[in-house]
Amino acid sequence: MYLDPQSRLGIGSLFTMVLSFFGRERDHVTHSPTLPPSYPLAVRNPYLSTWMPSDQVQTLPFAEPQFWAGQSLTWSVMARVDGQTYSLMSVKAPGDNIRPAIVRSAEYTATHSVFTLSAGSVRLTLDFFSPISPSNYLRQSLPFSYLTVSVSEASANNIQIYSSIDGRWAGRPQNTARSFHQTESTAIYTLAVKNAVPYSEESDMATWGETIFAARPSPGSNVTFGSGKRGEVRAQFVQTGILAGNEPWVPGGIVALSHDLGTVVGRQSVNFAVGYVREKAINYLGKPYTGYYRAAFPETSQALDYFLDDYPDALRESLILDLEMATRAKVAAGQKYADIVTLSARQAYGGIDLTIPNDSLDTDEVLGFIKELSSNGNLNTVDVIMPAFPIYYIMDPTYIRLLLEPMMRYLVAGRWRKPYLIHDMGAHYPNAIGHDNQKAEPMPIEECGNLMVLALAYVRATGDVPWVEKYIDVIRPYADYLVENSIDIAKQLSSNDAAGALANETNLAIKAAVGLKAFGELAGLEDYSRIGEERADLFYTQGRGTDGDKTHFVLQYPDKPASWKIPYNLYPDVLFDLQTFPKEAYQMGDTFFPGVRAEYGVALDNRQDWAKSDWNMWLAGTFEDPRTRDEFVDDLWAFMSNGKHNWPFSDRYVATSAKGRTPGVPVLCRARPTVGGHFALMALQGAGSLQKGVLSRMMLEEMSHGEEL
Ligand SMILES: *[C@@H]1O[C@H](CO)[C@@H](O)[C@H](O)[C@H]1NC(C)=O
Ligand SMILES: *[C@@H]1O[C@H](CO)[C@@H](O)[C@H](O)[C@H]1NC(C)=O
Ligand SMILES: *[C@@H]1O[C@H](CO)[C@@H](O)[C@H](O)[C@H]1NC(C)=O
Repeated sequence: MYLDPQSRLGIGSLFTMVLSFFGRERDHVTHSPTLPPSYPLAVRNPYLSTWMPSDQVQTLPFAEPQFWAGQSLTWSVMARVDGQTYSLMSVKAPGDNIRPAIVRSAEYTATHSVFTLSAGSVRLTLDFFSPISPSNYLRQSLPFSYLTVSVSEASANNIQIYSSIDGRWAGRPQNTARSFHQTESTAIYTLAVKNAVPYSEESDMATWGETIFAARPSPGSNVTFGSGKRGEVRAQFVQTGILAGNEPWVPGGIVALSHDLGTVVGRQSVNFAVGYVREKAINYLGKPYTGYYRAAFPETSQALDYFLDDYPDALRESLILDLEMATRAKVAAGQKYADIVTLSARQAYGGIDLTIPNDSLDTDEVLGFIKELSSNGNLNTVDVIMPAFPIYYIMDPTYIRLLLEPMMRYLVAGRWRKPYLIHDMGAHYPNAIGHDNQKAEPMPIEECGNLMVLALAYVRATGDVPWVEKYIDVIRPYADYLVENSIDIAKQLSSNDAAGALANETNLAIKAAVGLKAFGELAGLEDYSRIGEERADLFYTQGRGTDGDKTHFVLQYPDKPASWKIPYNLYPDVLFDLQTFPKEAYQMGDTFFPGVRAEYGVALDNRQDWAKSDWNMWLAGTFEDPRTRDEFVDDLWAFMSNGKHNWPFSDRYVATSAKGRTPGVPVLCRARPTVGGHFALMALQGAGSLQKGVLSRMMLEEMSHGEEL
């Protein structure tokens, strides 16, 4: 134990410090805007997804970050202040010469997770920044993330900043090779599995690419590097602040970079970059696709140099996005809603890779791929794109096309022959090889209906009519499938396959009705619109899908009046103002759902004790009464911030203790991009609304900047 010089300021702060050493500093770490289950650190694609569980934040100097699936990783950060080394993050077993800094605060925004600590008389800030820049394909596709360490309140202190990672980042630590090279400006470590098999994972971590760790001198700093045995590399830093180069690589070894800042007065910052590069990013029907950025920067070192050069611009954009997203979310549904969506943003885009063919590097041939994280690893699952689409709809609607396109081409090629739409483009990421054996998980009405809605969402938002014309003949048979098969619905799964298959599921009948109306709009074919309306009439007005008193939609018809399921498939009807169902059909929910609300809100249906956060936000978007909507937001927020769990945001959780389980804890799902569905309430602000808001703020800022000059 040591005495923080600040303790001389008074007994109060000494008391604070003593408490903190007995593990009670949680009371003293402020979490802003609230306590999340886990903080995104470097979250950019399915293989660069590193998190800090929030229950470790109080002991951040000793904490171990995790890959999204739960594997622990080392990502150490230390500061040497006037010859004394402090651990800021992830230094397990620090020994006598390294003191833990004191954690003061933790904050997240849409794109940043920021931790502030005190080390002696200086303040240190760790800013983990994962850009979200969907319309800038180059910036968005770079598979790197920034760590900025800032010193402030320095009064002529001599300072060095260190960071290191270990072989666990590469997926198979016992079988990892290290390499190092330096460009003119940048020191770059790579860690890669030896003799890796392309496109193979180890517990969801990629093993065929390269983990990247890099830094370059910032104004006023010099960078040194060192790698080898953990204890030895750390000891070099502790003793001198300077790292002494590369020693033989050993299992359990680390690669480290140190910025020497010399004497600092006031404030100064340095950057590190962490990443995971796959030249062969995706196997699309047997052909390698690579990251979009490779068209501009075929070499990883060029891409890294660009990434580091891009920091000021990426940062400026991110601050505008953070502000605009939070502001618009508050307008949509209040502060708690803003807390939910800002935590969801990096996770939503972190499920996606933006790619181009590796041979041509043709940037007109962009394809988007999305991983069904944690449920099974399927690729471009239609009923994952579907729940997530509200975030694309407001941030850059072209992503709906980019994510559908791999499937559309496969359908055009005639390789899927079932009368209903394929569920996904591959059983496991990153192999987008389709299902030539016709054995994709069957969800007939679900996926056919989803395609209608997604296609309409894209075209409504972008006006890209040629795209519809190109694919209308492929889409239409699935609309016909809905016409033929959506009254007496055969036993089948819907999106929530954990709930099991069901015949005559009302929510699927709703999906078909809205899907048919959407297709009628899309194709300009009124027959389909009319049939969609007739179905709505049958299931609502004639009461086939409701209880006798029309208090709610039933889970299953006929003769199950007490059953219920959240009718979230109504949401696109509201979003696109299709008017498939009459207003009264939505108004039922305003009064019914408050009556089945449990400790953490409304479960998926009357059989389950668990809720789906994405679908609940969709449903909340259909309510006429803002009080019901706010209850749904409050309940999701209560789950998110209750401090009882530490996974990346789970979209599935126990909502009620009615079946004996503890409510407010997640079930199975981690880090899934389906949290894009949390943006359903903001999507009601219009297609591209957030994108436009960010652009106009940026233009305003440029204009005022111009005036200053
Ligand atoms: C960085 O290195 C240059 C050249 O060796 C030296 O002049 C400068 O003082 C160093 N800066 C710091 C902060 O150590
Ligand atoms: C990808 O393209 C690069 C050059 O553009 C080439 O060197 C490499 O062999 C290609 N990789 C594959 C897997 O085709
Ligand atoms: C489905 O509903 C129809 C009435 O719409 C009914 O005739 C049929 O028996 C139901 N099917 C099942 C499997 O319950």
